[in-house]
Amino acid sequence: MGAINLEFAPKFKPLFQPKRYKVFHGGRGGAKSWEIARALILISSSRRVRVLCAREVQNTIRDSVHKLLRDQIESLGLLPWFTITENSIRSSIGSEFIFKGLRYDVQGVKSTEGVDICWVEEAQTVSANSWDVLIPTIRKEGSEIWISFNPLEETDPTYQRFVIDPPDNAVVVEVNYDDNPWFPDVLRQEMEYCKRVDYDAYLHIWRGKPRKISEAVIFSGKCRVESFDDDLWKQADRLYFGADFGFAQDPSTLIRSFIIGRSLYIEYEAYGIGVELDDMWKLYAGQQGATPEQMEQWHPGDDVKFPGIPGARDWPIKADSSRPETISHMKRQGFRISAAKKWPGSVEDGITYLRGFEQIIIHPRCTHMADEALLYSYKVDRKTNEVLPVIVDKHNHCWDGVRYGLDGYILKKHSMLDLL
Ligand SMILES: Nc1ncnc2c1ncn2[C@@H]1O[C@H](COP(=O)(O)OP(=O)(O)O)[C@@H](O)[C@H]1O
Ligand SMILES: [Mg+2]
Repeated sequence: MGAINLEFAPKFKPLFQPKRYKVFHGGRGGAKSWEIARALILISSSRRVRVLCAREVQNTIRDSVHKLLRDQIESLGLLPWFTITENSIRSSIGSEFIFKGLRYDVQGVKSTEGVDICWVEEAQTVSANSWDVLIPTIRKEGSEIWISFNPLEETDPTYQRFVIDPPDNAVVVEVNYDDNPWFPDVLRQEMEYCKRVDYDAYLHIWRGKPRKISEAVIFSGKCRVESFDDDLWKQADRLYFGADFGFAQDPSTLIRSFIIGRSLYIEYEAYGIGVELDDMWKLYAGQQGATPEQMEQWHPGDDVKFPGIPGARDWPIKADSSRPETISHMKRQGFRISAAKKWPGSVEDGITYLRGFEQIIIHPRCTHMADEALLYSYKVDRKTNEVLPVIVDKHNHCWDGVRYGLDGYILKKHSMLDLL
């Protein structure tokens, strides 16, 4: 292990000055989650504090910042001074972290006493009602509310309340990737790709500018980003794996999904830009899916870049048919992969099929899928603002993976030609 890093990026200095509200908003990769977690760990090891870690929805502790805090304790070399249980974290001097979801545990939140610092992470989804419940609960003398989020829409209650019209005694800081001295290469590649293909999307995802709601979003109102149990798929008939191949600098994807009733669950994604053919098996299967020979090609650091998808080696994969040589290569690497059918109009038919689900639930770990849910769009006439029946060929790498995975389920719409 290298030297322990106690430096903070300059934008986060206000974390150590007393203020009732500390608001950090901006694009992905600004170090918000990491710096706040590290600050809380340092504070909780130097004085006795009670920290409430809240978010809008917390179905399981895995949805919380518990793991992030644990990782930071470890990297700061402070493990011996903390007791970490499944649901709580305590420091040897008596500090305590507790974890709560605001929407479904109003009573639990209201009955939480003596909080010194409340951290609301991913606050973009927090409702006005949840703020109204939470804020009066944090009432200890000198208590603070720390808020971190990537803005979604300008009209969202969190953006309105803390950025547009912040309360007195608030410090409001915009942070982006260029404020993060440790901005990792994988994220930089994604940021540069996004900036090149869609500048508006770049401003939103990477510079934290709120988006205007658009009727042109293909899956608007259909998708929800919400965690579900890792065992839920066992209630489904089967899993679907679909792969899209990126040319040159485009992303390659693999998506794992399943269907229960009239809901489609998108459970895992693999997403990599500029992944070499030789590394593709890593993208799909990760270390857990390596064969003994492939294990020799595994390099330290690959585990961060290529977490892989459980089951990728066992289940059939349906892939983009435009690259038969890539499919053959992946077959030789031991995957059960074959081409999905394509026909004129197959994209539209796929979208119609997907829109036929009552809901599409995206696991929060699928961050690119969640982006594409908001970005995949129809063309809009710039002069008249009409939504046109033309699909914009962007932000579809995950959606194409979803569609290919459902090969055989998506049916060709009967055209006039079929009737002849
Ligand atoms: N103090 C730090 N030391 C090392 N790496 C860091 C540090 N802070 C952030 N990073 C790197 O930056 C990445 C993005 O930080 P994160 O906190 O997830 O950003 P945000 O929450 O703003 O999206 C992390 O995954 C990590 O690789
Ligand atoms: Mg974050």
